[in-house]
Amino acid sequence: RRSPACCLVIFGASGDLTARKLLPALSRLAAYGALPREFVLVGVARTPMTDDEFASLCRRHVAAEGNPRWQELTDTVRYVHGGYDDPATYQRLSEVLAECDRDHGTGGNRVHYFSVPPRLFSPIALSLGKAGMSQADGDGFVRAVIEKPFGWDEDSARDLYADLSSSFGEDQIFRIDHYLAKETVQNLLALRFANSVFEPIWNRTWVDNVQITVAETLGVGDRGGFYETTGAMRDIVQNHVLQVLSLFLMEPPTSFHPEAIRDEKVKLLRAIRPLDEEADIAANAVRGQYTRGGTREDLMPGYREESGVDPLSSTETFVALRLDISNWRWNGVPVYVRTGKRLPARVTEVAMEFHRPPQLPLFPGSEAGLEPDALVVRIQPDEGLSLRFGAKVPGHAFRVQKASMDFSYESFEQESIDAYERVILDALIGDPTLFIRADEVGRSWRIVDPVLRYWSQDSRPIPLYQAATWGPAEADALAARDGRRWRRLP
Ligand code: BG6
Repeated sequence: RRSPACCLVIFGASGDLTARKLLPALSRLAAYGALPREFVLVGVARTPMTDDEFASLCRRHVAAEGNPRWQELTDTVRYVHGGYDDPATYQRLSEVLAECDRDHGTGGNRVHYFSVPPRLFSPIALSLGKAGMSQADGDGFVRAVIEKPFGWDEDSARDLYADLSSSFGEDQIFRIDHYLAKETVQNLLALRFANSVFEPIWNRTWVDNVQITVAETLGVGDRGGFYETTGAMRDIVQNHVLQVLSLFLMEPPTSFHPEAIRDEKVKLLRAIRPLDEEADIAANAVRGQYTRGGTREDLMPGYREESGVDPLSSTETFVALRLDISNWRWNGVPVYVRTGKRLPARVTEVAMEFHRPPQLPLFPGSEAGLEPDALVVRIQPDEGLSLRFGAKVPGHAFRVQKASMDFSYESFEQESIDAYERVILDALIGDPTLFIRADEVGRSWRIVDPVLRYWSQDSRPIPLYQAATWGPAEADALAARDGRRWRRLP
């Protein structure tokens, strides 16, 4: 796969995301030959810099040794400095882009990558529109790439949408959720639709419950200020969790056309019963916040002790939900999701537990209450798939113990592609499959908003959990109430 001729304009070119993710991804794309000669990187930011200084910055972050195409590419970079809402910045940018078309044959094609804090999305989109730079001349293309968060709630997401769409058509807007670009998240599609063995059991007849876990061992680190106004629900559930959930549980799309897949995802999101009533929220949504914990050698600070965090903060660093899906396939199958910072392991996985056999006691002496059979898709780390089932322990007694069949991604020789490498190339090519459509954003907020509103008005103290434990006791109670328990993870 190869990008067509175009200019990639990075707003926020001197920032952290550009240095950590975008430039390394571009250098790898250059090394594979995925970027043609008719490709120019144009940086825009407030920091004054010349073209040459920007070129050195690119090479400082990613060395050009052994990657001659990166050297060539950084030789041609351009840079525009100025305020993001200053018309002069866009005037200058427009001139630079015209020079690129003239000197490098970039053909009037542009991909604008908004590598800036979310409050700048609207000013940049509106300014590009006002400067007449958001639509292509002739049959070229202009696209805008933005990364979550898309709004702070349903209303602000709608305002952002209005601003973006006053300049760009929906087919020009590429909203990134980096989880969708993870190899194993995409493998969900292969697993379900490139095989015939799984689909027959992918429904309420066989599945007892679904569990989605996005567990992180890290705390909020130096992002305390950002996290205070975000919390785990907005940071992870509204986007990554609901995206993974919808791909895992959606109906088979009628084709692999990007719109067909996105249609099915949004249908699934619509089928999630919103937690609207207070009693419903109180019963099915748990929040938590980590306190100091760990071992004496590795003592981790509590959330309220992190820098940038209010010592009385009630921001959630953990969320557990029970969701119900009102459609024929999943009716009556609870979907438990949990995510948190400072949990004991870094694991992202989706698991399906199957109904128990009707006569377990047939095998006396077997592991007490045998865990249910399960199909587990491990998204990270240690990407792979396991099917867990009962097997007879060798010996005279008929004793059954859990065993598992495992597939690990390591068995492929090819290395996984980095998420940013994939999304940048998809945006350059114009394949929207891994990007989120406006209706998915709105629907996801519709699911989490009532819970966030309820928590913001709840005067009871937020439940606490010690760092390096699996969340507050309330989360266990949520599953235990249904006679189930969270999967035990390493
Ligand atoms: C980001 C969140 O979207 O995802 C972070 O803002 C989180 O808080 C990160 O740590 C997790 O991503 P990954 O790829 O490390 O699982």
